[in-house]
Amino acid sequence: MRDPKLLAERFPGDFVFGVATAAFQIEGASKADGRKASIWDAFCNMPGRVFGRHNGDVACDHYNRLEDDLDLIRDMGVSAYRFSIAWPRIYPDGIGPVNEKGLDFYDRLVDGCKARGIKTYATLYHWDLPLALAGDGGWTARSTAYAFQRYARTVMARLGDRLDAVATFNEPWCSVWLSHLYGVHAPGERNMDAALHALHYTNLAHGLGMEAIRSEAPQVPAGIVLNAHRVVPGSRRAEDRAAAERAFAFHNGVFFEPYLKGAYPESFMAALGDRMPVIEAGDMETISQKMDWWGLNYYTPMRVSNDPSPDAVFPATVPAPFVSDVVTDIGWEVYPQALTDLIADLYTRYELPDLYITENGACYNMEVENGAVNDQPRLDYYRQHIEAAANAISAGYPLKGYFAWSLMDNFEWAEGYRMRFGLVHVNYETQVRTIKKSGEWYRDLARQFPHGNHRGA
Ligand code: FCB
Repeated sequence: MRDPKLLAERFPGDFVFGVATAAFQIEGASKADGRKASIWDAFCNMPGRVFGRHNGDVACDHYNRLEDDLDLIRDMGVSAYRFSIAWPRIYPDGIGPVNEKGLDFYDRLVDGCKARGIKTYATLYHWDLPLALAGDGGWTARSTAYAFQRYARTVMARLGDRLDAVATFNEPWCSVWLSHLYGVHAPGERNMDAALHALHYTNLAHGLGMEAIRSEAPQVPAGIVLNAHRVVPGSRRAEDRAAAERAFAFHNGVFFEPYLKGAYPESFMAALGDRMPVIEAGDMETISQKMDWWGLNYYTPMRVSNDPSPDAVFPATVPAPFVSDVVTDIGWEVYPQALTDLIADLYTRYELPDLYITENGACYNMEVENGAVNDQPRLDYYRQHIEAAANAISAGYPLKGYFAWSLMDNFEWAEGYRMRFGLVHVNYETQVRTIKKSGEWYRDLARQFPHGNHRGA
């Protein structure tokens, strides 16, 4: 189904098509109007952490180009924008006095969206922890969860009257495991004990954040964004299937089960429970508050086999080979069926509310040639995955919206600016934006929404 208008027919008329970004990846202006450093600013300054020692000082200069970028979003034909709020702009020291100028920026952003008829989907935490809080231990400290609650309250009191939805966290898997166990993201820890503390205090912060949202802006639909993994065993052998189940508990269960069932997975607790921080009375109730929606970020499946070595630590798996030979420029396997399968599996295991795909997209690094960017592989990726999303709707799952990652090329964390995910190309020398071929295709799809026809797929 190459024609975006035909593909559009498979979605109900009130389906939300949007684009997504995150503060640290696009804003730049890292010292403007009272903002102080986040753990990512510090990480970028440490040799060997981020490709080319790239940093977020300028990024896409979005902070200074807000109105033009909002026009760009409108021109992309989408009905919604998912963005994140930078905690270090609001509380430059994490705690202490609020910085009104930081709030003013997001006021302008939200008002600018409203003036253009674009819905606002805000994320409170997309990884830019105020660096000052690292002095207390960052996410390994319980106090950080309470600092987050205060920040959440402040943001919701100011913006809550104009937000269409809010998420507490983006991908806690990354800010917990990737940041504290695998050492790839800030603060670059490789320590299971640190990671287990970050896990519980992040989950606690999610719950405290939900409380803050409910008290300040109960009308705003609230939830969390998870990069749930489609875990696939590398073979049909029993030990690989058992490995995949352990991996599911470790990579998905430690988030889904506390939020939806008020407990950590049994297999995980049996293996690592004695190294968890103290779970205080009431914590699991705080964490398992009812959510109105949840967001799924999906890019690629996770294939695993059993790790037979005697000193292997839970979940004791090793990566298994890709099945598809289509791989994006960042090295991720393209396998659209896993998106449909993942949604089906998660709704079988858990009682989940409405779903938005809050990120999906592909890394291809084509440059501008003769004023255009021919990124056909990205267009193909979007077409296949949006078809997979339509299949999930046909199968009856409550999928309400889809956000492309990303509006524009931006700071791709440890990969710096060399990995491009945008529907719009950014020239980092001139800050010129050029809509790519995939961007034009997505615009033609998104422009079909919303419309009066609310029939199903
Ligand atoms: C996700 C992040 C997002 C972006 C994409 C490629 O894990 O949420 O910020 O970097 O990956």
